[in-house]
Amino acid sequence: MWKCVLVLLVVSVSVNALKCVQCSTKDAPECMDPMNETDIKRNTVACASRQLCRKITFTENGKSHVNRDCAEIAKDDKVGCSWEIRVNSKIGSGWDCFCDEDVCNSAPAAAVSGLLLLLAAALTAAQ
Ligand SMILES: *[C@@H]1O[C@H](CO)[C@@H](O)[C@H](O)[C@H]1NC(C)=O
Repeated sequence: MWKCVLVLLVVSVSVNALKCVQCSTKDAPECMDPMNETDIKRNTVACASRQLCRKITFTENGKSHVNRDCAEIAKDDKVGCSWEIRVNSKIGSGWDCFCDEDVCNSAPAAAVSGLLLLLAAALTAAQ
C-alpha cells in the first residue's frame, strides 16, 4: 500500500496540477476525519488536468466511510456539496463534495462549506 502511494507521488510530480488527498477509509482508517498533517501529506497526489478534489462522506450499513480522490466533475454538477441517497452505486447516503483548491478535500468541514456560504449570505442580506 505505501509503495503504491510512493509511486503515485513520484509519478504525479508535475507542474500546476491541483493536489488532492487520495484515500479511502475502506483500506486506510486514517482517512477518517479529522486527518492529521502527516497523513494528509502522505496521501496527497497531483490530479490530472480538469480534475477537482472530491470528498464523499457516507454511511453504509450503519458505518461511516470517507473517500477522498481526484475526480472530474460531471457537467451538471458544481463545486460544493450535494446530498446523495446512493453513493458508489450502493445503497447508502451521504455528502458528495467537490472543491478546487490544493488539498481542500482534507478538511473535515468540506461537507458544511456549502451551508456556511448560505449562512454567510443570509447574514449579509440581514444587515
Ligand atoms: C497521525 O495519525 C497516524 C495514524 O492515523 C499516526 O500513526 C501518526 O503518528 C499521527 N501523526 C501525528 C503527527 O500525530
